[in-house]
Amino acid sequence: MEADGDIKTMPTGFRCGLCNVNVPNMSSLEQHVKGRKHKTLSTVRAARKSQEERSVFVAGIKPEVSQTDVAEYFQQFGPVSDVIMDKDKGVYAIVHFSETASIQAALSSVEHQLKGLKLRVKPREKKDFKLIPKKKNDSQNLQQVLDRLTPQLCHLLTVNAQMQYIVEQCQLGENEKKARSLLVQLLQEVFVEFFPDSEILPFGSSVNTFGIHSCDLDLFLDLENTKVFQARAKSTTDQAREGMSDDGRSEDSILSDIDLSTATPAEVLDLVAAILTRCVPSVHKVHVVSSARLPVVKFHHRELNLQGDITINNRLAVRNTRFLQLCSGMDDRLRPLVYTIRYWAKQKQLAGNPSGAGPLLNNYALTLLIIFYLQKCDPPVLPTVDQLKDMACEEEECVIEGWNCTFPSQPIAVPPSKNTQVLCTLLAGFFSFYANFDFASSVISVREGCALPITDFLQQNKQEVMEEEQPNKTHQHNPKLGPLNVLDPFELSHNVAGNLNERSQRSFQRECQEAEKYCRSLQYQRKSSKGKSWGLVRLLTPHGEVQHTKTEQLTISIPFKSALLPEAMRNKLHMAGDGFRMLWFRKVCSAVRGVFSGVLHCHLMSSTDAAVGEDSALEEAEQKETPSASLNTSINDSCDSVESSNETSPLGTAVGAKRPHSSGSDASASPQSKKPRFPKRGKPEFPLWIFVQKHVVWAGRRKVRRELIKDTDSRAEGSCMELESQVTAHIIEKEPELKEPLEFKVQPQLVSGTESTRVVVKLEPTSDKTGVFQDFYHFLEALLPKMVETLLEKEEGDT
Ligand code: UTP
Repeated sequence: MEADGDIKTMPTGFRCGLCNVNVPNMSSLEQHVKGRKHKTLSTVRAARKSQEERSVFVAGIKPEVSQTDVAEYFQQFGPVSDVIMDKDKGVYAIVHFSETASIQAALSSVEHQLKGLKLRVKPREKKDFKLIPKKKNDSQNLQQVLDRLTPQLCHLLTVNAQMQYIVEQCQLGENEKKARSLLVQLLQEVFVEFFPDSEILPFGSSVNTFGIHSCDLDLFLDLENTKVFQARAKSTTDQAREGMSDDGRSEDSILSDIDLSTATPAEVLDLVAAILTRCVPSVHKVHVVSSARLPVVKFHHRELNLQGDITINNRLAVRNTRFLQLCSGMDDRLRPLVYTIRYWAKQKQLAGNPSGAGPLLNNYALTLLIIFYLQKCDPPVLPTVDQLKDMACEEEECVIEGWNCTFPSQPIAVPPSKNTQVLCTLLAGFFSFYANFDFASSVISVREGCALPITDFLQQNKQEVMEEEQPNKTHQHNPKLGPLNVLDPFELSHNVAGNLNERSQRSFQRECQEAEKYCRSLQYQRKSSKGKSWGLVRLLTPHGEVQHTKTEQLTISIPFKSALLPEAMRNKLHMAGDGFRMLWFRKVCSAVRGVFSGVLHCHLMSSTDAAVGEDSALEEAEQKETPSASLNTSINDSCDSVESSNETSPLGTAVGAKRPHSSGSDASASPQSKKPRFPKRGKPEFPLWIFVQKHVVWAGRRKVRRELIKDTDSRAEGSCMELESQVTAHIIEKEPELKEPLEFKVQPQLVSGTESTRVVVKLEPTSDKTGVFQDFYHFLEALLPKMVETLLEKEEGDT
């Protein structure tokens, strides 16, 4: 990769000049270089280069000279593979030869005459191959509006006024709404021709009161009545033979081609796409995305410059759009909050996945986060969905796909909130709420208006599945849990933030923390008398433009992912009640130490293991654990590679007499292991280890792994720790030692309570004379969390 001239080392990672992409570390860089984009661009560039090397530029042509004339003329210098003419002006051409040698022949000819014209032949100019970013028209338009906002916001008197102003400037105008509704009408007219009794219904931002200029037009094509129509037409065989239905309408050829009751969504959407392409004026760029959670037909309307999405089987979305409309009507403060927070999230690159799929929050999930926060305010600004259900009357009862979607149709049915906080305070409150929210161990339920502890949630779900409590649910399954969990208010098996990865969840929380800090400053609260930016302006500064004073520490985060833990461990954590974090922390500490000692064969120089505050539930859970036996197969033992013991620590590590390290590291560097302290009560203390590594055990692992897998016929899965340990041993055996050993500190710390539960492993070199620590760190960033996961699983399997 070093040989790759496209890659530049940056202060905060690497930059790929070919793809215009920045990546934070070596492992991401490796991923990027192996990825499709980089490979495609490299191939295209290589093809262009080879073309350039085999072609000449020809000037002095006149329009009457044809492509064939040029090709025939240049054949005398070698076989011509292609001739490209500038059709409009007819003054130059590019001649591609099949062989490079032909170029020299053509260039060395003193004069070129064709049809009485004197041609000038030159080598091709060597142009740098650059990726030209695609223009995003829609977002640019919106961006222009937003760019104009900043100076105007500064002139307003209060943050409340600024928030209202954002709504005024960004919301869909009356004409835009009218244009959208005309398009919906047109689509309705077309579709009903092919799908009798079908209905096309808008949902999402176009109609949920949170729409902004150029937002997508989300549409649901309801074919339920068409299915009934088709079934009826089929059963009336006589009429069907005549091609007429009982109400006299023709069963169009499209419907005779497809059976809606058995067709797959992709098959139906293919038809929808065909209708859009052939029958709706101004519609282009039609394509089906069948890999999405809900398959969709995407299209673009040229005149309106509008992106549209049509889905089927999406009745719940129409209903949740109604719910958002209701929320908007219940409290006037919701719209300014949603617009401001959506704008903030866009600026900070936290929400809005440009291609539909991606790891960022979608606007719907973000809106639900706002609603949840408003339910948790004291007193609440919005009621819970369960409370709303109780306020509805009988006629408003609604069940879709087995999910209860009942709520009042009119805001008037909901008593006004007693909360009187102004927008400025509520906005600051939103940031503070999520800056301090434990995402990893909670599942947000807008339905119940509370954050359910994840361990209880999983337990409850397990029981429900076992008891088959809700047999009427058509899609009964557990939600996909991840670093941020927000249950849909109605489809309770759907985590609307299930697409988020650790990184995007962390960014969201970090930005909330930054915003919280800023909202406490005078700059947020008070208009500048000197005309400086104040209030929302600084909050809405795009990501990357705010100077962060803190330098990034070398830390690796290991998030609490309860859904990925083995069931036995989940049960223990559940039994530990509030102490589950500490119990999990100890397991992780043990695994982290296992990775350095057992997997990477680092030599433990010094160790200060410390247990952390315990409670009886924790002790109870701990007592049930059995210490495991073999060095390479257990976390507990892998941590025990330096010391053997008479005493067993709560980490499962044994302490006491020292014994030499069993890896290839030099045992004569006598370990200065301190006896760990394990306070039974009191403030948490975190273990601190100093390790030494004499080999570059992070380089070339993939190759060694491949060789080992081939030789031993073992698989990476299941025997991961053994395999990785073998890889390290192999490198240590084959590769020369570093000139000076790398010595570094490792300290895992538990972060929870005010943030998502996770272990943050702090890493710091204490002696790095050969300057390899950064590389080691980048390697660990990918390996450590993955390996800890494997070890946690393994330990559970072993106990
Ligand atoms: P979006 O996230 O696109 O929200 O979901 P939006 O308000 O329309 O915002 P933009 O401007 O288009 O980005 C669109 C609709 O899709 C449904 C909801 O009805 C939402 O309003 N949806 C989305 C779900 O039902 N579930 C989801 O997980 C996501």
